[in-house]
Amino acid sequence: MQSSWTNWTNTFLLSIALLGSCLSVLAAATDVSYDSRAIIINGERRVIFSGAIHYPRSTPEMWPDLIQKAKEGGIDAIETYIFWNHHEPQRGKYHFSGNLNFVKFFKLVQKAGLHVVLRIGPYVCAEWNYGGFPVWLHNLPGVQLRTDNQVYKDEMQRFTTKIVNLCKEANLFAPQGGPIIFAQIENEYGNIMEPYGAAGKSYIQWCATMAESLNISVPWIMCQQSDAPQTMINTCNGFYCDKFTPNNPKSPKMWTENWTGWFKNWGGKDPYRTAEDVAYAVARFFQTGGVFQNYYMYHGGTNFGRSAGGPFIATSYDYNAPLDEYGNLNQPKWGHLKQLHAAIKSGQKVLTSSSPSTTQIGNGVDLTTYVNNPVGDKFCFLSNNNTTEDAHVDLKQDGKYFVPAWSVSILAGCNKEIYNTAKVNTQTSVIVKKSVGSNNESAKFQWAWLSEPMWDVLTGKGKFRETKLLEQKEATGDASDYLWYLTTVEINDTTTWTNAILRVNTTGHVLHAYVNQNFTGSQWTADGDHRFIFEKPITLKSGTNFISLLSATNYGSFFDLSPAGIVGGPVQLIGKGNVTKDLSSNPWSYKTGLGGERARLYKVKQSPMLGRGKWAFKGLPSGKPMMWYRTSFNAPSGTDPVVVDLQGMGKGQAWVNGRSIGRYWPSFLAGKDGCNTSCDYRGEYSSDKCAMNCGNPTQRWYHIPRSYLGNGKHTNTLTLFEEIGGDPSQISFQTLSIGFVCGSVYEGKTLELSCQGGQTISEIHFASFGDPQGNCGSFKKGSCEAVNSLSTVQKACVGKTTCSFNATEATFGSVNCGHKYSKRLLVHARCL
Ligand code: GAL
Repeated sequence: MQSSWTNWTNTFLLSIALLGSCLSVLAAATDVSYDSRAIIINGERRVIFSGAIHYPRSTPEMWPDLIQKAKEGGIDAIETYIFWNHHEPQRGKYHFSGNLNFVKFFKLVQKAGLHVVLRIGPYVCAEWNYGGFPVWLHNLPGVQLRTDNQVYKDEMQRFTTKIVNLCKEANLFAPQGGPIIFAQIENEYGNIMEPYGAAGKSYIQWCATMAESLNISVPWIMCQQSDAPQTMINTCNGFYCDKFTPNNPKSPKMWTENWTGWFKNWGGKDPYRTAEDVAYAVARFFQTGGVFQNYYMYHGGTNFGRSAGGPFIATSYDYNAPLDEYGNLNQPKWGHLKQLHAAIKSGQKVLTSSSPSTTQIGNGVDLTTYVNNPVGDKFCFLSNNNTTEDAHVDLKQDGKYFVPAWSVSILAGCNKEIYNTAKVNTQTSVIVKKSVGSNNESAKFQWAWLSEPMWDVLTGKGKFRETKLLEQKEATGDASDYLWYLTTVEINDTTTWTNAILRVNTTGHVLHAYVNQNFTGSQWTADGDHRFIFEKPITLKSGTNFISLLSATNYGSFFDLSPAGIVGGPVQLIGKGNVTKDLSSNPWSYKTGLGGERARLYKVKQSPMLGRGKWAFKGLPSGKPMMWYRTSFNAPSGTDPVVVDLQGMGKGQAWVNGRSIGRYWPSFLAGKDGCNTSCDYRGEYSSDKCAMNCGNPTQRWYHIPRSYLGNGKHTNTLTLFEEIGGDPSQISFQTLSIGFVCGSVYEGKTLELSCQGGQTISEIHFASFGDPQGNCGSFKKGSCEAVNSLSTVQKACVGKTTCSFNATEATFGSVNCGHKYSKRLLVHARCL
């Protein structure tokens, strides 16, 4: 029996411990509030730059570097969605480890001294499979998604509460001393709520009440929700948000998604949004009273596994973001925005304590002044919104300014230009791919191969039966991209049926057909439309004929409303004289997934034996559909990012050491038209403007995160499932590094050049201070030049990892260009 003294001592010690932990929490607690002009963090009035990094689109090993680069880029907060379908792939079974460990991700963000913006959704869109919803949710009896439906609301509340509780338990909310300063519920519901009518309105009210009831003590936001119930702050998403005003005059003007580029579809080109235009949009936002701005994406990353949304979202989610898919600085975007953040931050005091007052100067030019009264400090934005005409603005005693078309100048004290969104003073980096090993390395790979085991499905044997054509996600529960639809047809009248047509009406997205074990053909959805009709000539024989259809799909945002697979059909046979047999209500047998998926052929330790098949090593087949391939390779030395070049392959999925690096489809080329050689940053951006990579594979290179690789000779295994036929002998591994850097600065500015990853500047190809012209890689001298241009830059840079100097006559010697406005310096250097 314990003595009362021991009890008392224990209670006392426990109280001290609790008090201690309370004190430590209190000591670190961060208070977050806001008014119309500022986000107020521990009493400090702030403007906030935030950047989206979705934790599952990179690896935990990459997180610290990405976060650090965001911090160096002048980012104050990292924003992310939470991805429900990955955390709860089966109802009640949760996953929070590896790159799903968002608690660890948030702690790393905090360790770097940054805040977190937590967008729970739990509907997120995000080009993510099914918009983040688990497919089991769709299949719950009586459920209707994103509306006033009790089944759905119960699940949404349960999951949202789970996430909030995990954050609370880890002390992640700001008042607990954690990094989270805002949380979001729902996502852009306002854009689609109209058809939901009254139920939509009551649903959004419920979302607000439910969110509030979770007591997180930081403000909640809703994006694109102009009727957001108070106390939700409604925020803006788009390429530009300067014209946005929150629905409550007491709310800060917040921009949750500034799209830094765009995502890529299979068959699509590479989106490209200029640094000048992103900077213009941001500067316009703060000119017009903006307080919080988030880049969507700051780092886009990779859609590993089957995470890409449907139907045709590519595996790379690079997004043309300031950090590229692999985490390299995307220059000049990263650096140009970094300078913009510093320029705006220098006016933070004035910006957050006064309201803008704008004078229209004419021809699209506006001067916006912020004055911090009674102190009288000033901060100005001088914008030229004209899309073609540059402006020369004379502000009398406050100076004369050259404001290029579609640009904003930031004027410290309203009389000194510290930044202009169109004058880029940051290096451009050209990333190059280096083959690993000798050029013939790919020829040296030993390939093993195995046909997808299909005998069961080609002879009509599935796992379950129905007398109708099922909807794909209802049939598979999203356990695989693939669903076999199998039936038989008896033919007596060979005159009518020997040469027939198989016609399949499908809602998408890819269909492969086999008749009597013979491959008949493949077809897929045209971009933008999920439905298509497959029609191919077939030969039928007297007696039993096997029809085996493989449908492949993944899910987009509104797949609760639009079906996938051959649901309902019809599936028809058209015989001589247009006689039609409808097979839609035949007995259909079904099998979810591939035999190779079930046998886990992608697992490294998996035995090469499989049913009727066996890995073969001789006579590597090429151009054959439904093949598994495997090879081993060395991890490239160093730390540069690694990619596999899948040029020559058709369509399928790839794994490295048993981990999926995503779907691949290099045979899908981007359209030939719509890429211009030059890109004018001026005028409103849309996702096809300035697109690149016309006529080439949408995605040829696939990211293999370093952490997926082991060291040592041939210790790594690449496994491919090839769906439509490809040639693995062309495959090679490459590393990425900066090959060249180009610098462009106007007179008076400092040029900094840097090669990443420990490389040095080995050569200066071009350097001219005067009026040189051209784009990176094709610079040309102008009519005037300081004679010492090249030698000065050579002396300052060659042999160094970074160098910097001022673009002034003091550095380069005098030069008379006879021009009214600034001279500039262009440099093209090589990194080795
Ligand atoms: C928004 C959506 C994001 C993302 C973006 C496009 O409408 O909220 O999740 O899908 O579009 O990249």
